[in-house]
Order: sequence, then structure tokens, then C-alpha cells
Amino acid sequence: MDAPTAARPTKLAVIGAGSVGVAIAYAALIRGSADAVALYDLDRAKAEAEVLDLAHGLPFLAGKRVEGGDDLRTIAGSDVVVVTAGAKQRPGEPRLALAGRNAEILRRLMPGIREHAPEAIVVLVTNPCDVLTVVAQREGGLDPARVLSSGTVLDSSRLRWRLSELVRVHPRSVHALMIGEHGDSEFPLWSRTTIGPVLVREWREDGELRFDDAALDRIADDVVHAAYRIIEGKGATSSAIGVSTARIVEAILGDEHAVLPVSSVLDGQHGIAGIALSLPTVVGRAGIERVLEVPMEDGELAALHRSADAIAASLAGIA
Ligand code: 2OP
Repeated sequence: MDAPTAARPTKLAVIGAGSVGVAIAYAALIRGSADAVALYDLDRAKAEAEVLDLAHGLPFLAGKRVEGGDDLRTIAGSDVVVVTAGAKQRPGEPRLALAGRNAEILRRLMPGIREHAPEAIVVLVTNPCDVLTVVAQREGGLDPARVLSSGTVLDSSRLRWRLSELVRVHPRSVHALMIGEHGDSEFPLWSRTTIGPVLVREWREDGELRFDDAALDRIADDVVHAAYRIIEGKGATSSAIGVSTARIVEAILGDEHAVLPVSSVLDGQHGIAGIALSLPTVVGRAGIERVLEVPMEDGELAALHRSADAIAASLAGIA
């Protein structure tokens, strides 16, 4: 019998050493999402300082190596490239307002990513991430299965946490999805939301239904506006997008076939094509393995189409 061969070390590259990029690198190193992490930024001093700061924690981290700087060759050999570079929202500014500026930055970055990490799965985190997923796919000439965005993975996590607080059940036992745009038109798939195995709409406390439509609307509104509140208070969101993106990287590198609400360019699911938005998606080593078409109520399907229209309008505005 042949001796087992050691698996090739995995490598994650993060483009952009701002608070989001650093949070992703840090979460990935803590969780061991990849063996090596490379951090690239145009600002050499900033990239090198962040790499040094992360490297000083390596004895206590699951990751094995961290490198980086302002030379894009640092991303060579990456299995996954996460893009965080770009302008961030100012307080009160919607994500879609960033489309023009960030599409331009992405257009400049894509050739270098293709040159130095041609085999990598590309994960867009820069906002508006759905719009930019389409830009990266079209302009980078990428196979649509190999480009995705963090989409509503974070928003779904926010929803699970919010519900978990209200019913005093661990967030892991709350099965809930935000879908559509990672932005103002996203919405919860209430018809499929369960706490343990119990539909949220059937969850009872003291014999009474806990959530009526108004209560569910308030929760949805809270989740949709969560990032605005954080941006108001600390300038940007970072910690939770860090761990949610690390989780996506693990699903890819571990070939997990995990179902996550990432965003990818659809090809006819629910009647939508050529637009990226989040639906429950099987994620593995090849990137997007399959986008699931979940049975939806009429109102949910209409909301999904409104979300697709918002993304399409933004794309048309930057064409
Ligand atoms: C977030 O939802 C701002 O898109 C970022 O945290």
C-alpha cells in the first residue's frame, strides 16, 4: 500500500489591508481556514505592519504562515483570493452608492489576480458585492462557478443571532436565511425559517404564537439596517464579516459541499439570469457547485425579483 502523501498546503490571499481585510486574515488564521495567508495592499507600510502584527500571534494560531506587502506576486499560488479593496460606506450611505467607484478599482485589480492566481476561486467582499461579482466574472472572463461573493452569509448570521436572543436558543440551532442583494433589498426567507425543527411562525411561548407578521417585519428591518448602526458607531463593520468570510473559505478549501447563502451569477434560477445575488448554494472546492431553488411563497419570490431589479439597475448604471 502506498504511503499517504501529505496534502499540499492551502493558501488564502486577501486583497486590501483595511479593517475588513485584516479581520478576514485574522479570523482565517485563528480558525485555520487556510495554511497560509497572504495580505496585499497598495500601501506597503500598512500591509507590512499588519502582516507583522498577525505573524507575532502565529505561535497561538491555527494558521501556519502569513506574508504580504504591496507586490501582487504575494498572492501567487493562492487557492482562494478574497477581494476587500475599495471605498467603504460613509454613515447612512447605501452599499449600491459605491458601485461606480469600486467597479473601477476591481477592473484595475482583476488582470493582476488572473495573472498571479489563475487557479484561485475569487470571493468578492467589497461592496456592493453582488454587483462586483458580475463585474469580476464578466471582465475577468471567469467561469461563473469560480467567482462568488460573501453575499448574505453575514446577514443570515445576524438574523440567526437576533432570533436566538429573542427565543433564548443557541444561534446554531436557528436555521434562517437572508437572501437576495447583500443590501437594502435583502429579506428573510421566513417560510423556511426554523428554530430547531419548529417553523418560526409556529414558535409558541406560554401557549401563544411568539411572532406575528409585525414582529417578523421588525426583526427583518433590524437585520437589514444592522450594518448602518455599526458604521455609525465605529466607522465600519469588520469582526463578523471576518469570521463569515473565513467560514466561506473553509467550505471551499475543505471541499465541504456546505450550503451557504453566498452570491453568484445566476443562470435562470427563479427566472433570474446574468445577475448575482444570494440564494442557498452548495459550496466546495470548485466554488459554486449548485444554486438551490428553494420553494418560496409568492411574496418572497416577488421580493427576490425586486432585489434582482435593484442589482440590475446598479449594473446598468456602471456599464
Ligand atoms: C456589512 O454588512 C457593510 O456590507 C457590510 O457589514
